[in-house]
Amino acid sequence: MSVKVTSHGHATFSLDVNGTKIVIDPFFDGNPAATVSAADVEADYILITHGHGDHIADALPIAQRTGAKIISNFEIGNWFIGQGYENVHQQHIGGGFQHEFGHVKLTIAFHGSALPDGSNGGMPNGFLLTVDGKKVYIAGDTAVFSDMALIGAGGLDLAILPIGDNFTMGPDDAIMAINFLKPKAVIPCHYNTWPPIAVDVDAWKAKAEAETEANIVTLSSEQVHDL
Ligand code: NI
Ligand code: MN
Repeated sequence: MSVKVTSHGHATFSLDVNGTKIVIDPFFDGNPAATVSAADVEADYILITHGHGDHIADALPIAQRTGAKIISNFEIGNWFIGQGYENVHQQHIGGGFQHEFGHVKLTIAFHGSALPDGSNGGMPNGFLLTVDGKKVYIAGDTAVFSDMALIGAGGLDLAILPIGDNFTMGPDDAIMAINFLKPKAVIPCHYNTWPPIAVDVDAWKAKAEAETEANIVTLSSEQVHDL
């Protein structure tokens, strides 16, 4: 029984849950922080937080090659169906579903969600996953919000949070988010990919560990964290 979390750079992660491969926000080929190409990615499921290009970029080709099931909101699911890809499970904010690998609930996020072709991607979301008895919150691109306290109320083993500022919450707001969520561990993301989201992550880790109870785990591309 194991859950392994691999960073692929920016906000792209994969979870290996007892051998099932779950890819979150696949952005490989145009991702300056990625070291793996989309053609080499294995996936059984692909989870999409919102329609922006740095989150959905390689989802369709990976899905077409692997046959992975896409889990997303209703509008993004319809976009995939419109592209001819039917293996889609549509959920929406506040709704949970027991998939074979674990439970997936969509959470609120404050951001945009237009797709690269201008289609309406609905509301952006985060994911609260319960996999192999572990609770993992993936915030997606979002501002901090005080209802993060509700998301963390059942206990969190891990939170994956953006810290890069400019497009999402920045370093200080991410510390506020950790204090609302109260996770055991935090993996920061969505920083240092491009100059507008540059962060001194070692300084941030020291500050976050001083001001919260969480263990901060920084992963470079292809590094793995065992839950
Ligand atoms: Ni975005
Ligand atoms: Mn983004």
